[in-house]
Amino acid sequence: MPVLVVADLHLDLWLEHGRDPLAAVSPDIWLRLDALILAGDLTNKPKVRWPIMLRHIGRYMPLDRVHVFPGNHDYYHHVLDGDDRLAELARAEGAHFAQKSEFVIRDHRFLCCTLWTDFRLGGGRAEAMREARGRMNDYRYIRVASDGYRRAKPTDTEHVHANHLSWLSDRLSMPFDGKTIVVTHHCPHPDLVPEPADAVAPAYASDLRALIGEFQPAAWLFGHTHWPGSAVVGRTALRNCSVGYPDEAKGRQDEWFSSGLLEFF
Ligand SMILES: [Fe+2]
Ligand SMILES: [Fe+2]
Repeated sequence: MPVLVVADLHLDLWLEHGRDPLAAVSPDIWLRLDALILAGDLTNKPKVRWPIMLRHIGRYMPLDRVHVFPGNHDYYHHVLDGDDRLAELARAEGAHFAQKSEFVIRDHRFLCCTLWTDFRLGGGRAEAMREARGRMNDYRYIRVASDGYRRAKPTDTEHVHANHLSWLSDRLSMPFDGKTIVVTHHCPHPDLVPEPADAVAPAYASDLRALIGEFQPAAWLFGHTHWPGSAVVGRTALRNCSVGYPDEAKGRQDEWFSSGLLEFF
């Protein structure tokens, strides 16, 4: 019974274009799926669109087998400290909210969180934060409710990254009799960003190779970069399982879902 991990569906943009990337998954796979894990960037404007998109996904499989957690886009026109509201939206549709969540499917332990980044890729944290704040929509469209609804800053997402990383490290250090699979939205490896020299690359990935090497989970699946890269660190297979925007797809339908399809026997 397989588990499908998919990041960056951006389903609102696809449906606006009259297209549905989920139609590329065969009916046979939908029938056999034990679980669908949505690893961030389901939509912008989640308070309006998460219910609509989750109901759309519910046409393919029962939502009690769907685990969803936010990427950066799922905070747009929302707040960085608004996970409680996202959890309510998911649960109201019958789906599981998987932010900082651990669950077991057939002897496989899944550890899920958004992750964000530490802005330290390339060694210039302050400059990377300046670039990200100037160029990325994350710091225009995401606000912080606990501080007067001001715009989020890179130091805010860096703080969430530290929190998520600490949670992940704690969970990874707990013994588990089976395989562990980490699922994040942001990228954990410096070689898996498409343009590492770009000044905003540190907003896409952190270098977590030491953590991966220490705990060696069986796999680490992620998205955010919309670039189908993969790597191996020790015994850990890292794979990007992004779908991406409709105008980026360009004949990649075969790749979209194969990288995130895990078959357990
Ligand atoms: Fe995305
Ligand atoms: Fe993203």
